[in-house]
Amino acid sequence: KKRILSGIQASGSLHLGNYLGALKKFADMQSDDAERFFFIADLHAITVWQEPQKLLDQTREIAACYLAAGVDIEKSTIFPQSAVTGHVELAWIFNCVARLGWLDRMTQFKDKAGKDKERASVGLYTYPVLQAADILLYKATHVPVGEDQRQHLELTRDVAKKFNHDFEVDYFPVPETLYQGPGARIMSLRDGMAKMSKSDPSDNSRINLTDDADTIASKIKKAKSDADVLPEAAEGLENRPEAKNLVGIYAALAGTSVADVLNDFGGKGFGAFKPALAEVVVEKMAPISQRLRGLLADPAEIDRVLKIGADRANEVAAPVVKDVKKIVGLWAGS
Ligand code: TYM
Repeated sequence: KKRILSGIQASGSLHLGNYLGALKKFADMQSDDAERFFFIADLHAITVWQEPQKLLDQTREIAACYLAAGVDIEKSTIFPQSAVTGHVELAWIFNCVARLGWLDRMTQFKDKAGKDKERASVGLYTYPVLQAADILLYKATHVPVGEDQRQHLELTRDVAKKFNHDFEVDYFPVPETLYQGPGARIMSLRDGMAKMSKSDPSDNSRINLTDDADTIASKIKKAKSDADVLPEAAEGLENRPEAKNLVGIYAALAGTSVADVLNDFGGKGFGAFKPALAEVVVEKMAPISQRLRGLLADPAEIDRVLKIGADRANEVAAPVVKDVKKIVGLWAGS
């Protein structure tokens, strides 16, 4: 049975990278015969300090982003991670399966902890283990994410294999990671070598899901590019990170390939390409930000959606926790 699962951290407003690397894919994956679980990773968010009321607002906001992007609760289960206690239960057991050496190699911890590692939270260190629990708790088979999650997904696969091996069971499926297409790695509009991110201090580096049409157009106009014309073929974009990124954004949003975009724009400069790009971004993103504003005006409705999702997710997760307890030898009732 195919089970698709993914999560988004509740730690700030979402941007075009989150949309193309994650949300759009989730919405596009709703036609096939699979079960789908999409959650708001609020437990991951608190690995760094979060203002409590803001965390709660952000959790609702991410839920609204799922809905605004087209995730349909008739086809997908949307829920807050912390509403299903199995995530934490499994995370502890996996803390005892994963090895220190594996976590020591995680580049995200090194990036986020910075120089003063001693002052990082223990949760930040063991963050990828909680992520493995998120995925395996639902015995997910497919995990759509952006490229930046590659290492975490590898660790999840390692946890699944080691658990199965240590306890001599064939219990957890080893999940497949889905990060195909030009949307898997969207870069900053100010620097083609840095990924588009919530934490970049410059708001001009990203397009937020909440930006209006004028803001989007002005950010694209200011986006860093180069003085050359666009090449006729994709190979011509190597060593031109900003150009590659802008063409990739166009392709991902328009639902075409980089080759197709270059067919139309090869030989033209950014003076011609940028207005066309701005038009596509506005055309695709404006309806989403409009829906988002409508949804955010009704937090009670969002809470209703989350409650339905949490109940459904708990139904699926509870028997897995029970199985795992039995496998490990923890008392799980008679
Ligand atoms: P997060 O919240 O940082 O990002 C959410 C999703 O957006 C993708 N993404 C991008 N894709 C393309 N270009 C970008 N610039 C870009 N920035 C972000 C991310 O790859 C991700 O798919 N640890 C995860 C949340 C998580 C999770 C999970 C994901 C927790 N448990 C279980 C999958 C399965 C995170 O912090 O994503």
